Amino acid sequence: MTMRVEAATPITLRNGQQVTIRPLAEDDRAALMRFGQQLPQDDLIYLEDDLQSPEIINRLVNASAAENWRQIVAVRDDGEIVGYSAVRRLTGWSSHVGDIQLMVESSYRRSGLGTEMAKAIFEAARGLGVAKVIVEILAVQTGGRAIFERLGFSREGIFSKHAHDRHGNRHDLVVMAYHVM
Ligand SMILES: CC(C)(COP(=O)(O)OP(=O)(O)OC[C@H]1O[C@@H](n2cnc3c(N)ncnc32)[C@H](O)[C@@H]1OP(=O)(O)O)[C@@H](O)C(=O)NCCC(=O)NCCS
Repeated sequence: MTMRVEAATPITLRNGQQVTIRPLAEDDRAALMRFGQQLPQDDLIYLEDDLQSPEIINRLVNASAAENWRQIVAVRDDGEIVGYSAVRRLTGWSSHVGDIQLMVESSYRRSGLGTEMAKAIFEAARGLGVAKVIVEILAVQTGGRAIFERLGFSREGIFSKHAHDRHGNRHDLVVMAYHVM
């Protein structure tokens, strides 16, 4: 049985804005859809999951209580989502490994929210009982790489032309990892 961290944590960002980091809930569906709609096109073409697709949003929200998946959001006082992060335990011989995703609304970036969410998703990963977390980032996503490097992740591999963006262009995929325990 894995541990579930349900606590909501209010935080004040470097720019003075306040948000609460808490688990994704079923009634976040509409807010998560709006969050996906406002993500910059530059980011959307590089994301693994299309957060503008209602099917994907439904899949994420329906998995909010899934055993091997933890999803957290950063919400404003009015309930709008400004950050999303998830860790999902892999299967088979990698069942001790969790795969992380992280994204922050563009107007909330460079204020420490990504770092706070990354810390919270690490805790969730520990609760899931995984020993290692990985993040898969396209080589062109320099901001994403910088934040995980600062958090102690190191590059474990590069898969050549392994991912394609929404325009069909192929990109090198960087796998970064951190050993939780
Ligand atoms: C990556 C991302 C989550 C960072 O969120 P954030 O809230 O801006 O992160 P922080 O404010 O905590 O930044 C932490 C550090 O990461 C580094 N960093 C963040 N964005 C950066 C950028 N665009 N370029 C260079 N370094 C960057 C900086 O060192 C920064 O510290 P500083 O602001 O004190 O210099 C956000 O840019 C994002 O959602 N990007 C699109 C999705 C993505 O690439 N996700 C990662 C792969 S799943």
